[in-house]
Amino acid sequence: MSDAFSEAEQRGVYRAIYSRRDVRSRFRNEPLPEGMLERLLRAAHAAPSVGLMQPWRFVRIRSQSTRRAIYSLVAEERLRTADALGERREQFLDLKVEAIRECAELVVIGLMDRREEHVFGRRTLPQMDVASVGCAVENLWLAARAEGVGVGWVSILDPVAVADLLAMPKGSEVLGALCLGFVDEFDDRPALEKAGWASRAPLTDLVFEDRWGQPTSDLQAAAPKAESSSG
Ligand SMILES: Cc1cc2nc3c(=O)[nH]c(=O)nc-3n(C[C@H](O)[C@H](O)[C@H](O)COP(=O)(O)O)c2cc1C
Repeated sequence: MSDAFSEAEQRGVYRAIYSRRDVRSRFRNEPLPEGMLERLLRAAHAAPSVGLMQPWRFVRIRSQSTRRAIYSLVAEERLRTADALGERREQFLDLKVEAIRECAELVVIGLMDRREEHVFGRRTLPQMDVASVGCAVENLWLAARAEGVGVGWVSILDPVAVADLLAMPKGSEVLGALCLGFVDEFDDRPALEKAGWASRAPLTDLVFEDRWGQPTSDLQAAAPKAESSSG
């Protein structure tokens, strides 16, 4: 007997995947109800990880002064990033790249210390710790989408300064911060696409057969209907 989800459940999973957005604007000025953040963090913690290492750490920011300090670090890095972009400087500055002050919850994403003790799956690929944290954040992101909560991942910051601010142990690392809060609607396309910054590549450009660069014949050039925000 198959343990597949029912059709309605499958539609729900794909809807969460295709309608998830990185959200940085239009957060409602409303706290998350009791238990919701915990639910989302439990979804993150259910993620796969290399050697079951569970390298993710999350620091919930409740102090307003710490939130302000993180905002300042993001604001500084935003300008440095703009300067590094050369002729795209002004276009970048027009983008909204964070929602640190207006989100209901701010959670800093950390990578644990003493990672060198974990060799399983990392001897040749030590970056699998970062990959595992990415899986955890994606779990949270999808669960949040299902709950109507927008999430924005902010990596435009100085990770060492944020680690110092949060008294993180030597060897740990900051991988950004998550801005969370209710939104009334989710855009149907990435904000960066709407702003003309970049666009999602067709899958056929990214999947090869047998050797790098060799196209695979089995993919349809156009996305199937399921890949829409309404599911
Ligand atoms: C690891 C990671 C870091 C990101 N950092 C930022 C960021 O600092 N600022 C920002 O505006 N968007 C950030 N994003 C969001 C991406 O720009 C966004 O995911 C992408 O444009 C696709 O849009 P979508 O998530 O709505 O599909 C980040 C996304 C990821 C996965």
